[in-house]
Amino acid sequence: MLMAFSSCLLLVLLQIFSALFLSLAQDQSGFISLDCGSPRGTSFRERTTNLTYISDANFINTGVSRNIKPAYQTQFQQQTWNLRSFPQGIRNCYTINLTIGDEYLIRANFLHGGYDNTPSTQFELHLGPNLWTKVSTTNESVALAFEMIHLLTTDRLQICLVKTGNSTPFISALEFRKLINTTYLTQEGSLQTFIRADVGATVTQGYRFGIDVFDRIWTPFNFVNWSQITTNQTVNVNNDYQPPGRAMVTASVPTDPEAAMNLSITGVERTMRFYVFMHFAEIQELSSNETREFNIMYNDKHLYGPFRPFNLSTSSIFTPAEVVADANGQYKFSLQRTGNSTLPPLLNALEIYSVILFPQQGTDRKEVDAMLNLKSGYSVNKVEWEGDPCVPRDYRWSGVNCSDIENEQPKIISLNLSGSSLTGEILEFISDLTNLEVLDLSNNSLTGSVPEFLAEMSTLKLINLSGNELNGSIPTPLLDRVRRGSISLSIDGNTGLCSSGSCATTKKKKKNTVVVPVVASLVSVFLIGAGIVTFLILKRKKRSKLPLNPNSGTGTTPLHTRSQNGYESPVIAKNRKLTYSDVVKITNNFERILGRGGFGVVYYGVLDNEPVAVKMLTESTALGYKQFKAEVELLLRVHHKDLTCLVGYCEEGDKMSLIYEYMANGDLKEHLSGKRGPSILTWEGRLRIAAESAQGLEYLHNGCKPQIVHRDIKTTNILLNEKFQAKLADFGLSRSFPLGTETHVSTVVAGTPGYLDPEYYRTNWLTEKSDVFSFGVVLLELITNQPVIDMKRERSHIGEWVGLMLSRGDINSIVDPKLQGDYDPNTIWKVVETAMTCLNPSSSRRPTMNQVVMDLKECLNMEMARNMGSRMTDSTNDSSIELSMNFTTELSPGAR
Ligand SMILES: *[C@@H]1O[C@H](CO)[C@@H](O)[C@H](O)[C@H]1NC(C)=O
Ligand SMILES: *[C@@H]1O[C@H](CO)[C@@H](O)[C@H](O)[C@H]1NC(C)=O
Ligand SMILES: *[C@@H]1O[C@H](CO)[C@@H](O)[C@H](O)[C@H]1NC(C)=O
Ligand SMILES: *[C@@H]1O[C@H](CO)[C@@H](O)[C@H](O)[C@H]1NC(C)=O
Ligand SMILES: *[C@@H]1O[C@H](CO)[C@@H](O)[C@H](O)[C@H]1NC(C)=O
Ligand SMILES: *[C@@H]1O[C@H](CO)[C@@H](O)[C@H](O)[C@H]1NC(C)=O
Ligand SMILES: *[C@@H]1O[C@H](CO)[C@@H](O)[C@H](O)[C@H]1NC(C)=O
Ligand SMILES: *[C@@H]1O[C@H](CO)[C@@H](O)[C@H](O)[C@H]1NC(C)=O
Ligand SMILES: *[C@@H]1O[C@H](CO)[C@@H](O)[C@H](O)[C@H]1NC(C)=O
Repeated sequence: MLMAFSSCLLLVLLQIFSALFLSLAQDQSGFISLDCGSPRGTSFRERTTNLTYISDANFINTGVSRNIKPAYQTQFQQQTWNLRSFPQGIRNCYTINLTIGDEYLIRANFLHGGYDNTPSTQFELHLGPNLWTKVSTTNESVALAFEMIHLLTTDRLQICLVKTGNSTPFISALEFRKLINTTYLTQEGSLQTFIRADVGATVTQGYRFGIDVFDRIWTPFNFVNWSQITTNQTVNVNNDYQPPGRAMVTASVPTDPEAAMNLSITGVERTMRFYVFMHFAEIQELSSNETREFNIMYNDKHLYGPFRPFNLSTSSIFTPAEVVADANGQYKFSLQRTGNSTLPPLLNALEIYSVILFPQQGTDRKEVDAMLNLKSGYSVNKVEWEGDPCVPRDYRWSGVNCSDIENEQPKIISLNLSGSSLTGEILEFISDLTNLEVLDLSNNSLTGSVPEFLAEMSTLKLINLSGNELNGSIPTPLLDRVRRGSISLSIDGNTGLCSSGSCATTKKKKKNTVVVPVVASLVSVFLIGAGIVTFLILKRKKRSKLPLNPNSGTGTTPLHTRSQNGYESPVIAKNRKLTYSDVVKITNNFERILGRGGFGVVYYGVLDNEPVAVKMLTESTALGYKQFKAEVELLLRVHHKDLTCLVGYCEEGDKMSLIYEYMANGDLKEHLSGKRGPSILTWEGRLRIAAESAQGLEYLHNGCKPQIVHRDIKTTNILLNEKFQAKLADFGLSRSFPLGTETHVSTVVAGTPGYLDPEYYRTNWLTEKSDVFSFGVVLLELITNQPVIDMKRERSHIGEWVGLMLSRGDINSIVDPKLQGDYDPNTIWKVVETAMTCLNPSSSRRPTMNQVVMDLKECLNMEMARNMGSRMTDSTNDSSIELSMNFTTELSPGAR
């Protein structure tokens, strides 16, 4: 152990002759002196130091003022005459605004002074979330001071008094003294004062400001076998440490000039670590044949020297690294004269500090501010809402829950202010809680509207606003998130609240009247572009291979933005990598084929008692195993209720498979074609499927990082579960897999004929708008139930054909006859309009999926309202539909 630290114990000599710091002398700037317990707004100048103390009332909201007995007032400085005691609450905190990177000497002073009948107290002093020291008073007439030197890592410092037993914490004065932040540096932690000694002092009283520019308190100090020497000249003290002149004009030398000056730290635990600062100046007049030269040793290891103190000028020598005990538990410094020296060593002043660590990080400043703003904004009356909201855990604010990850800054993840008598509006400060997942404001008296910022809080998963007096409408973006399943919202018992996004219904009617001209103009645009589509589709087959992956991303560092905070469904909590033999077992030796998809054969299987679909990838479809893994890891993180969930994968040599949740009702195409039986998908059912798959796609485009372009949107990739909920399948694979056509497994072609974006085909530039195009085709299929490409039709491509029919004003002839006229023509129009804009040859003129989702949801609401036999324009009905549909969404959007 000795060897280990001796190498790093290089000492540094500081010798600054300039008078740079003379101007600093006795300047109180950079000092904050709080007289605890004195009335708000008062201040006074302390008689012996001339320091100005101010009331602490602006720095703390709790505690009560008390006074010491008048008898003690003559004995102690005025800042101890008042004190603040804390009979209420466990933790009470002072908050001081300081500047990050500044260094302060911080001193807390305690004098009981008989302010109550129990002078014996025990409590703790905390710096932010960390223990600074235990305070224990036994005698009302003994003043205690705890001091540390601390380099600020935040702009806000909290000093808390923490009740640990029965006694009531109190504090007399709190002092902050700004130091030069290049001094007293440590490798880690802060410095707690162990001793600060004026060695060889002739005075018996300690001293502070007025003599020490930084208001350090110096104690006179003499050793038994040492002698004092002194000078009546002044010593230059102008280095960064600026020890007081009074300390430097006196020094100790060993009484026996041949003896070493030995200095041990004793009576401490062996685990303590120290920093030592020694200040030297030659204060004897040496004749030309005299020298004073010595070495500084630590535990018999050479530390520094040979060193000759400068005449009447200060050198400060310090340990740049902490010193620890040797194997015998000893901490021993020794100043030893060299052979050439005619004089013994000397020591003028000495400071020893122990290292104190503050390992617990405080909560992010912004989140703390938000909580403080909420506390004052709502006048929250909770005594435990003091100090850091999250840490330490024992003193966490009630209603607040935080992430508890070791060595990480705590984050507020839930806030429960249910039944806290809150009044007024929902305050925007909440939006500064950027990691919040659960917000419960239920059973208060909150008024005003539901603010839009809630929708933008991307981590929020659960909002409970029930039992308030909110009014107005729920913002559409919030409704969208509810609909998407990314948020769960409770609003019961707010009688004034209209839950539909569109309480004002006049807009709707107006829109319907302009549908026809819009469609007409779209049609003509489409017809111009249609030629290109035909040409490209015909030409397609001649190209053998398209360069793939024009999209960004190797997929090595994908982070799914919305899945970071425990968003994943339990099924996929772990990356499920399975062996091939697992796969054989799951599928019962590939017993039942579910279908043949673009990438291989799909088998039925059972994993953890849940049915799954196992997609065996054909060898030739894989571009590379490594890429496969990266892709799969990305897909394992993508969870949305409208996307089929990947629950596992297998990669063993050339045996690669993907395991998805099982979708009991097959794909959309089977249902439209009647292959699944005679039952007909209603218009409402189709709209619901359209809206759900649009949401899934919107999520791939906007909710995933990196963005995922599906590249193969078509009716066979929209699957239906046992509840006829639609989910998109086969997304993401296209990034590392060439796509198969509908029938041929191994043909390397991008996209499926008819669904393919002509612009992508032309430019090879893939964007999410290519998916929008394909989705437009799906919408037309839902309306018409016609093949996408039919050579026998007047126009082979479904888009061209619909365009032609519309230009003839023949809308009824395009609608699937199986619907038997059971639909609201307005919604058909609206969806046709949307589909046609999706098919715009120019990708920039296509809508985003977000717009498509909104259009479809509006139509779905209208159709649902119609089916419930109520008038479309009745907003109360709208809202009840939204409620039943949306607000029951589970917290976890996972597939199961
Ligand atoms: C305090 O200030 C007064 C007047 O400014 C001065 O006369 C006195 O010497 C000062 N005392 C100390 C200890 O600095
Ligand atoms: C500290 O700064 C905050 C703003 O960040 C301010 O609201 C507060 O009043 C300040 N406290 C004091 C004592 O100046
Ligand atoms: C010391 O303070 C200065 C500004 O006064 C700041 O720029 C610097 O970063 C601080 N040094 C440290 C170690 O924090
Ligand atoms: C308290 O301290 C004072 C001065 O140090 C001493 O005279 C007195 O006896 C002490 N009282 C008790 C109760 O220990
Ligand atoms: C002081 O010196 C005497 C004689 O050299 C020695 O016996 C004694 O132990 C010393 N005391 C201390 C505290 O070092
Ligand atoms: C300093 O002290 C010496 C004796 O040690 C004395 O002779 C001299 O006059 C003193 N100088 C002053 C300025 O007081
Ligand atoms: C001081 O320490 C040195 C080295 O550890 C030792 O040799 C010497 O005897 C000590 N001197 C005194 C006076 O304790
Ligand atoms: C230094 O010189 C003085 C005379 O100038 C003499 O008295 C003294 O002994 C010398 N000291 C040493 C250590 O040689
Ligand atoms: C000390 O004395 C020796 C000879 O006795 C000499 O070689 C050495 O340079 C001297 N050291 C210093 C620092 O003067």
